[in-house]
Amino acid sequence: MKLKAIPSLAIFAAMFLRGPGPLAFAQQEATTRAPRSGQGVRPSPDALVATDIENRVRSLLDRMTLEEKLGQMSQAAYPGKIDDRFKDEIRHGRWGSLFNGGSLEEKTQLQRIAREESRLGIPILFGQDVIHGYKTVFPIPLGQAASWDPELVSRAARVAAREVYAHGVRWTFSPMMDIARDPRWGRIAESLGEDPYLASMLAAAMVLGYQGDSLAAPGSIAACAKHYVGYGAAEAGRDYNSTWIPESLLRDVYLKPFEIARQAGVASYMTAFNSLNGVPATANAFTLRQVLRKEWGFQGLVVSDYTAVHELIEHGFAADAKDAAWKAIDAGVDMEMVSTDFHDHVKSLIHGKQLDPRLIDDAVRNILRLKFRLGLFDLEMPVAEKGSVMPAPAALEIARKLAAESLVLLKNENRALPLARAVGKVAVIGPLADSPADQLGAWAMFTDQGAVRTPLAALRHVLGEKRVVHVPGLKNSRDTSVDGFAAALGAARSADVVLLFVGEEATLSGEAHSRAFLNLPGAQEALAAEVARAGKPVIAVVMAGRPLTLGDFARRVSAILYAWHPGTMGGPAIVDALFGDVVPSGKLPVTFPRAVGQVPIYYAHLNTGRPPSPKDLGIVPGSPRAQTIYRSEYIDIDYKPAYPFGFGLSYTHFDLANLRLSARELPLGGSLTVSADLTNSGRFEADEVVQLYTRDLVASVSRPVRELKGFRRVHLRPGQKVTVSFTLRPPDLAFHDSRMRPVTEPGAFRVWIAADSTSGLEGEFKVVR
Ligand code: NOJ
Repeated sequence: MKLKAIPSLAIFAAMFLRGPGPLAFAQQEATTRAPRSGQGVRPSPDALVATDIENRVRSLLDRMTLEEKLGQMSQAAYPGKIDDRFKDEIRHGRWGSLFNGGSLEEKTQLQRIAREESRLGIPILFGQDVIHGYKTVFPIPLGQAASWDPELVSRAARVAAREVYAHGVRWTFSPMMDIARDPRWGRIAESLGEDPYLASMLAAAMVLGYQGDSLAAPGSIAACAKHYVGYGAAEAGRDYNSTWIPESLLRDVYLKPFEIARQAGVASYMTAFNSLNGVPATANAFTLRQVLRKEWGFQGLVVSDYTAVHELIEHGFAADAKDAAWKAIDAGVDMEMVSTDFHDHVKSLIHGKQLDPRLIDDAVRNILRLKFRLGLFDLEMPVAEKGSVMPAPAALEIARKLAAESLVLLKNENRALPLARAVGKVAVIGPLADSPADQLGAWAMFTDQGAVRTPLAALRHVLGEKRVVHVPGLKNSRDTSVDGFAAALGAARSADVVLLFVGEEATLSGEAHSRAFLNLPGAQEALAAEVARAGKPVIAVVMAGRPLTLGDFARRVSAILYAWHPGTMGGPAIVDALFGDVVPSGKLPVTFPRAVGQVPIYYAHLNTGRPPSPKDLGIVPGSPRAQTIYRSEYIDIDYKPAYPFGFGLSYTHFDLANLRLSARELPLGGSLTVSADLTNSGRFEADEVVQLYTRDLVASVSRPVRELKGFRRVHLRPGQKVTVSFTLRPPDLAFHDSRMRPVTEPGAFRVWIAADSTSGLEGEFKVVR
């Protein structure tokens, strides 16, 4: 038995705060602000490093011209060609940061110019969108979230950091931690799902993986918490759209992962494109100055998103570029990505006394501090290692494991899976069985597609060429032509089992790729209907960047393995699961709707005054409306989701029993242990993700019907039993009241230990003063 302990949110945060690792810097900041040596307390070596950094920043800042300061506050996308003009710009300190491009040799050359030929020798901070891997591509973040395995997610982030570090990059624009409750939004693929607790744990894990124990250590890169904040709540799921989020929801849900990332020591934040309650996130003094800087004490770097400063004009928030520069800096943005309003207008803003020059110094200080922390002034650029292979075998192993853990088994009728190795002949059908680019997902622009192992290749490897007949049936997921159907049906007839690889191409999710329909695109449902005519068992593997509404398709197939976009090693991971070498253990990090009309749909909703009744499963369209149903439901569809948050089947069977609470009362300041026994009563050795939920039954502000408060991934052999325990403390149960105070109110709570968000063993306790 193996227990991976994931502590509750407060404990997790406390663990970081105590730890010697990445949060040391947060402690250093505090120490630096209030030196204690005069009081007889010797400063720690870390504090001395931080003090040294502050001294170096100050001495550099004192020597900088305004032009040089504005250069530091400017970030450019890597130009296609490095010509003399660009080199000259670097020599004159025009760009503090460059991102997304350039070979190691080019970057080394530019860094040498910056460090040796510019007046003050300030190095360039090279950034890159390393979102779910660099050369080794891991599942899309939403897929990683389905693993509910922060430890593994952290290891994957470390691999990505090491790979990109070796290419001269020291800053990734990841993790994205926007809470996403609308599958229409294309960027749900890049998110960690709908839940603040799960997203916080995984985001913190990624930060730790990227940043390591020290930002200056070889292989460490700065992480970036994005998009700050509220981006995932885009109205109608349309990318870049406005968001309206009441402050209590903002603080309890949308800000939560960003707050935990702060506690995990994240080095930077990126402002979002959206407006939040009418104020663009890139000029939002409330979220940037009040919350991030003042309440959370963040002293790192805040970068805008791509041209988001200039877009303040389109938002109707700034009159012109000069106004945009002023409003963004005034709100707390340190570095402008791509647009050049800071560079072009700050001088005149300062001369006109519209902008306090101390704000410029603050911004530059934040930028330089990070450059010093990363060791950019002191370390050499990495040297290309002869013979080093990327992806390395060890990295591929992690990618395979993470892809396997991200697989969610949604259906398995009559134990259609796992397949026996002696299965006979398999028909591999569908547009996604052998499509490396689509398997990689939304952010895989820096990898070599030749490294990708597709399901088709993996199947051929396991079964041999002769037992695998491959007919795509459709050219891609959007193809509507039925020309390939006859061949697909023929292949299905010739085989013992059909493996149907359907879903969405990579390009159907990600930035600016929202959808109004959530069904399988193109003629894929028709293809499924066609191959079903062969009368063979059909096993569906769905690769997609979002929850899809599977409807009739789900009824037609025997099993559904949801694979997201699983990355480089998706093929072997899927094949491992199909044959039972690995037992699917992923759980949904996001609710799957039955129909687009249910969106937004998420498990942690309020109960309403007229909650739906589990008996009312919707009315058959066209039938008269029943007079008795004045409840929060639909007249034409079951109100419940197709698959709930936290759900995922296994090949084995797990029993949860014997819920125990260490006490019936939880005093403010105390703690409570909730435990249950988990038994693997099936035939396979497997992992289960056990989940802890609570509900605050009566509060001064209505609370969600359930909220995730803990989880554990447990590995059990057949017949093995283990006790799973969680500790709850009052801060775990806190929310923001109507005066925006974080409170845990005395009263009754319900608690569940469960296998998903709709079931579980149920108990009750009281919080008492
Ligand atoms: C825009 C995206 O919103 C952001 O996530 C990304 O990091 C930047 N572009 C840089 O490519």
